[in-house]
Amino acid sequence: MEVIIKDTVEEIGKIAARLVARQLNAKPDTVLGLATGSTPLGLYAELVRMHKEQGLDFSQVVSFNLDEYVGLPESHPQTYDYFMRENLFKHINISEHNTYIPSGTADNCEAFCEWYERRIKECGGIDLQILGIGSDGHIAFNEPSSSLGSRTRIKTLAKQTIDDNSRFFSSPEEVPIYAITMGVGTILEARKIILLASGQAKAAAVAAAVEGPVTSMVAASALQLHRDAMFILDREAAGELKMADYYEWVQAKMAHAP
Ligand code: F6R
Repeated sequence: MEVIIKDTVEEIGKIAARLVARQLNAKPDTVLGLATGSTPLGLYAELVRMHKEQGLDFSQVVSFNLDEYVGLPESHPQTYDYFMRENLFKHINISEHNTYIPSGTADNCEAFCEWYERRIKECGGIDLQILGIGSDGHIAFNEPSSSLGSRTRIKTLAKQTIDDNSRFFSSPEEVPIYAITMGVGTILEARKIILLASGQAKAAAVAAAVEGPVTSMVAASALQLHRDAMFILDREAAGELKMADYYEWVQAKMAHAP
């Protein structure tokens, strides 16, 4: 596991964007796994800039989003579908047919989840997965006690997640209780994983994920089992890491640090 600590949240987005661009240049038909929420906004803004100013090409890219609320009408501005279109897809040259987002309105949710898993495999599997982390240590919406082998399925959101995400709604009561989410097992199959985190509110979850035991109570700790997982953190999110000095020393010694 690689841990990169930077001074500002802006730097995190820029580094992540450089890594995505490097991946797309090496493999133009990359399959990307994408996250929503506040964390990847800087990354997406930088990718849009790179597309517009440097011609970063998404024409062959396929993307799969991690999750979607269940039950919000398709036109609702808090659907992750809306978020992706507004913050990334409509600003770059990705083909709409190549962007997959779990459906929160499918009649047969179980069949949809099986199809989503199958579609990821048919597209060759996820090359690079972008993740945020919840203050309860979730990745996607794999809340505490989610099986580390879990696959795409419907999941009940934890009270803490509902409270955290209520900032996007007019009241906590409006936040959906259920979401469709890729499982921890689905995420671990990605070839490369980059988790981004910023702010002091994420510090305890980041420390538990990086330095704590691997446990279903902190889904992000499962990334310790992955061969190519990277945490890119700002100083606040790294604030509770006991080995922060070591991670920074390793980065300083690396000839090709991102
Ligand atoms: C969103 C997702 C979630 C978020 C996490 C952090 O697609 O999968 O796991 O990454 O809840 O959210 P923010 O970035 O809003 O703090």
